[in-house]
Amino acid sequence: MTGIFATAPGKIILFGEHAVVYGYPAIAVPVNQVRAKVLILPIPANKPDEVYIEAPDIHLNSHLNQLAFKDPLRIVIEEVQNILRLSYLPPMRIRITSTIPVAAGLGSGAAVSVALARALANYLGHPLPDETICQIAFRAEHSYHGTPSGIDNTVITYNQPLFFQKGKPYELLGVEKPFFIVIGNTGIASPTGEVVAEVRKNREQNPEKYNALFEKIGQIVLYARKLIEHGNVVDLGSMLTENHCLLKEMGVSCKELDILVETAIHAGAYGAKLSGGGKGGNMIALASSEKLPQITQALRDAGATTVITTEIR
Ligand code: PMV
Repeated sequence: MTGIFATAPGKIILFGEHAVVYGYPAIAVPVNQVRAKVLILPIPANKPDEVYIEAPDIHLNSHLNQLAFKDPLRIVIEEVQNILRLSYLPPMRIRITSTIPVAAGLGSGAAVSVALARALANYLGHPLPDETICQIAFRAEHSYHGTPSGIDNTVITYNQPLFFQKGKPYELLGVEKPFFIVIGNTGIASPTGEVVAEVRKNREQNPEKYNALFEKIGQIVLYARKLIEHGNVVDLGSMLTENHCLLKEMGVSCKELDILVETAIHAGAYGAKLSGGGKGGNMIALASSEKLPQITQALRDAGATTVITTEIR
C-alpha cells in the first residue's frame, strides 16, 4: 500500500465569535493560504496497532497508545476506527505538519482533525462523507475547550464561506462581490479554551451585560450577512469595527489587538476586528485591493509577526 495524503485549510471568523457559543449566529470563511497536512505511510511491523504519530512542529513523536486519552489526535483516530468498526489498525506512520499558527484564532486544531480523519479513513479504504468528518472533528474540538460551538470544524470541513448557528444546519454564504481580508498576527498565543472559560465566568457574574452584548453581536451578524449577499463591502467594514468594539467590551481584546485594529483602519481599511478567541492571536481587516500593500506594511511596522491576505469569494 502506498502513502495517503490529506489537507485542510485554516479559517477566520468574520463575525460572531464568543456569541456563537451561546447559540447566536456567526460568519466564518476558510483561509487556504495556511493548511494542515497529514501523510500516512505503511510500515513493516509484525503486529497490528503499531501506529506512530509524528508532528515535528510540536516535537511530537509517539506511539498512539502513549497519547493521553483526551488527546485530540487520539480522539480522531479512535473515532474513525469505531465508525469503521475495526478491531485493530494496520501498522502505520502518521506524519502531521501545519502552516497554521497554533492558538491564534485560525482553527489550527480543527484543521489537523479534519485532515487526519480524512487521511485515515482514506488510508483504511473507507472514505467518509464530509458530515461524518465534521462530527469527528467536533468531538476532538471538545478536548481543546469544553463547549465548542462547532464553527471551526464546520467551515474547515466544507471549505466555503458560511453562516453558522449552533444546532442548526450550516448555510453556505453567497458572496455577491469578492473582497479582501488582511490577517495580522499579534504573535501572542492565546488558547481559545481559556478565553471561552473566562467569558463564561464573567457572564455568570453579569448575565445582563453579557447577554446584551451577545444580542447586539447577533444583530450585526444578520446585517453583515445581507451586506455580503448584496456586495456592500464598505458597510461590511464598518460592521467589523462595531463587532470589535463589542468584543472589547466583552473583555476579550488586548492592547496588541487594539493597536493592530487601529493601525489597519488608519492605513485605509474599511474596518477591522480581532478574530477567534481573542486576548492575542489574529486580527482581520477588510480593504480594497489598492490599499492592501499599505495596510500590510503598516501592520508589520506596528508589530504584527505575520500578515497574510486572503480573497473571499
Ligand atoms: O480561537 P478559535 O479560532 O478557535 O475561534 C474560537 C471561536 C469561539 O467563538 C470563541 C469559540 C467557539 O467554539 O466558537
